[in-house]
Amino acid sequence: MGDLKVLIDEETLQAKIGEVAERIMKDYEGKDITFICILKGSALFTVDLAKKVKNNVKFEFIRVSSYGDSTVSSGKVTMKLDLQDSIEGEDVIIIEDIIDTGRTLSYLRDYLKEKNPASLRICTLLDKKERREFDIEPDYTAFNIPDKFVVGYGLDDKENYRNLPYVGYFDV
Ligand code: IMP
Ligand code: MG
Repeated sequence: MGDLKVLIDEETLQAKIGEVAERIMKDYEGKDITFICILKGSALFTVDLAKKVKNNVKFEFIRVSSYGDSTVSSGKVTMKLDLQDSIEGEDVIIIEDIIDTGRTLSYLRDYLKEKNPASLRICTLLDKKERREFDIEPDYTAFNIPDKFVVGYGLDDKENYRNLPYVGYFDV
């Protein structure tokens, strides 16, 4: 792997997250919101977004793992850490770090619908649209990015780089 380059710097990230927060506040005026943070990658984004949204925000955490060959559109998502509380009747936003094939969110959306939230939306920090294999359209997207493997700001390469305050990629 080559040098780690900056794709989205800290200032740009935080400014855009502020814009996403404004949109959410407009759409959820006067309402409590439940953020479902998809661990581990969405941890930093969830916290920064929640600090900028002035509504009362409740937190839930889910951890899933995806297995599957990236060249084959089959693959399985398994639950590693489930919801700890009911989300029935709540206005829920799934907070995701990145949408790639859409497999993870396609599974999660169906799974969470069964829990009868009042509403269910998807907010993603990053979207690699050209990689999509499943029918997933996020309601809030901070950045559309090209098909590059990115790390930082929650995203990992074998559990490393998650705490970088920016999103980077490896120049090849
Ligand atoms: P999907 O299920 O194919 O949409 O993949 C989503 C998951 O794959 C994300 O939650 C990440 O954990 C991982 N992922 C996809 N692309 C990247 C990347 O560029 N860097 C780090 N993780 C990624
Ligand atoms: Mg990951």
